[in-house]
Amino acid sequence: MNAIVLSENTKLNKSKLNTEHGLSILVEKDNNKVLFDTGGPKGTMVQNAKTLNLDLSKVDAVVISHGHNDHSGGLLDFFKLNDKAPVYIKKEALNPHYTGSGSHKEFIGIDYRISHDYHERLRFVTETSEILEGFFVVPNIYKKFSTPTTNRILFSKEGNQILKDNFYHELFMIVKVNNEITIFSGCGHSGIRNIVSTAQEVFPESKIKNIIGGFHFQGGRISSINEKSEEIEDISRWIKEAVEKVYTGHCTGKYGFEIMKSIFKSNLEQFYTGKKITI
Ligand SMILES: [Fe+2]
Ligand SMILES: [Fe+2]
Repeated sequence: MNAIVLSENTKLNKSKLNTEHGLSILVEKDNNKVLFDTGGPKGTMVQNAKTLNLDLSKVDAVVISHGHNDHSGGLLDFFKLNDKAPVYIKKEALNPHYTGSGSHKEFIGIDYRISHDYHERLRFVTETSEILEGFFVVPNIYKKFSTPTTNRILFSKEGNQILKDNFYHELFMIVKVNNEITIFSGCGHSGIRNIVSTAQEVFPESKIKNIIGGFHFQGGRISSINEKSEEIEDISRWIKEAVEKVYTGHCTGKYGFEIMKSIFKSNLEQFYTGKKITI
């Protein structure tokens, strides 16, 4: 399996690729190509795929981790290039989502044109499903552990009410190679321990080899909001016991990454736009 980060917040110094706050990872296994998230609305995912000579018309399926536009922002551009790939998503991801504090709320949800103009491309996932051989989407995340306190600035609209976001709209992807699994998570809003423990319940016989994704130790676009250091340490120690290797970036943030690094050492790598991970 190969995973290439098509769009993320960072890149290597001399890279010609574009960056933006968001995440998109192209995963290839056997002859199947799955796009996990599509980056932010500036279109960096599609631009970078072009620079890297990756043909998005050949993508077989798209998975959208949750209803934020830094993960779904490239979908409209993607649909212009690809007329076949179904998009696996939770229905609740289409509800409006916001960030902010006090009375000021900024819309960060999925562009309404995606469900309005491309509704036939969407596949609403309600239970763990194998979407292509070895690719699983897990839409029900059991919450045994705490969720990120950085979620406190995030809201969703249900009916006419704007409520604290419970992230029921989040899902994650598992790719299984032999009896080892790799977890792909978007922002980890549901708590990365909850995602890993759900993966353990769904695949009790499998070893969790890797996690690739954001852990939301930082408040999304607001980099001054961080998870408490003791909490990051606790989570890191727990994850270290459960998973062999971790690749992270995006909303993990620099502060959280440094704390994680002191615990994981060489079993933690930062990902960035253009990073290729071979498993
Ligand atoms: Fe995000
Ligand atoms: Fe998010």
